Amino acid sequence: MERPTPLYLDNGATSYPKPDAVYDSMVSYMRGNGASPGRGNYARAMEADRLVYETRKAIAELLGVPRPGQVIFTCNATESINMALKGYLRQGDRVLTTGYEHNAVMRPLKKLEARRQVQVERIPCTAEGALDMTAAKAKLREGVRLLAVSHASNVIGCVTPLDEAVAAAHECGAAVLVDAAQTAGVCPIDVTAVPVDMLAFTGHKGLLGPTGTGGLYLRKGFELSTLKEGGTGGMSLSPFPPDDPPDRYEAGTMNISGIAGLHASVRYLLDIGVDAVRAHEAELTGLLLDGFESIPRLTYYGPRSAGRIGLVSFNIEGHDPHKVSMRLDRDYGIMVRSGLHCAPEAHRLLGTAPTGAVRASVGYFNQPSDIARLVGALGEIASRPPD
Ligand SMILES: Cc1ncc(COP(=O)(O)O)c(C=O)c1O
Repeated sequence: MERPTPLYLDNGATSYPKPDAVYDSMVSYMRGNGASPGRGNYARAMEADRLVYETRKAIAELLGVPRPGQVIFTCNATESINMALKGYLRQGDRVLTTGYEHNAVMRPLKKLEARRQVQVERIPCTAEGALDMTAAKAKLREGVRLLAVSHASNVIGCVTPLDEAVAAAHECGAAVLVDAAQTAGVCPIDVTAVPVDMLAFTGHKGLLGPTGTGGLYLRKGFELSTLKEGGTGGMSLSPFPPDDPPDRYEAGTMNISGIAGLHASVRYLLDIGVDAVRAHEAELTGLLLDGFESIPRLTYYGPRSAGRIGLVSFNIEGHDPHKVSMRLDRDYGIMVRSGLHCAPEAHRLLGTAPTGAVRASVGYFNQPSDIARLVGALGEIASRPPD
């Protein structure tokens, strides 16, 4: 039997395809430059350094960051979150978080519970991801030092209203870390308008860049102890890391080929505008939800409202989610992700642990016809006996 044309709907894991300029920029750096940035005074090394600076500048523009130096490059959101949590939290600190965080937040916090006796508390929330802000404010008043919250859940798809949470935290003297892994590049973010202290992002999802790229925004004057130490290309006589960002946090030769790709992807997003991405993905998500509602015995999770991103988790009664995703791939060429999506608490909240759910996630390059294809395939799967 002929294989159907592949249809990628797993953009919540990593976006695909990338804009052509991303592939071109990576090849161009690797073939035509190849030098280490910040490490030499010959023209090519300085050109590579310039590329890193221009990428910081583009990201700063995209996220409303006042100075490019406040953007620290990492290899993904996980590294950024580890850097933030382990660099900020001290012995016995209290942290407030939500029940739908990714393991990128939950696991470092678990380690800090054991190593530094950090106390982790959760804001109660509904199965649609709405946070109980009255309870959150009461907890914040009890002396929380950090509020760590994702901007959007990678399971429920809900977008956290950051304004209220950030204002409440700051009023009580708590700092705020936002995990923007699922929203950078697909939802407008302005760290000046909503003054978070730290914002972690990844380069390979909504930012449309390559894997192995990401970053952490740090508010001016907000200092962390370093997660790693090493060469930074300057001040080499000092046995200590430099005081100032970004060098302080960027020990070691960076992923410059990845950054070359990220430069092209962020420039691409700046050209088309994040609002256009958001509007396109909202249209596709609306079609997805309408389609899912037309399929008997299919339950989807998360809000129906506009306050969600372009990923929808679902289950079909009587069908194992892994088998549904395997069948979608095998029989229809459609790629989606099944399981717990590295966010077991979110699935406990939904009542879908331990098997989880199937998650379809759209990207900027998907079209309404892709959604129709997925809905058609799921309608057929739901009408037949499980595998
Ligand atoms: C909400 C959320 N946080 C953090 C991460 C981790 O991102 P990365 O794997 O790029 O470090 C993900 C990735 O799936 C995510 O969805």
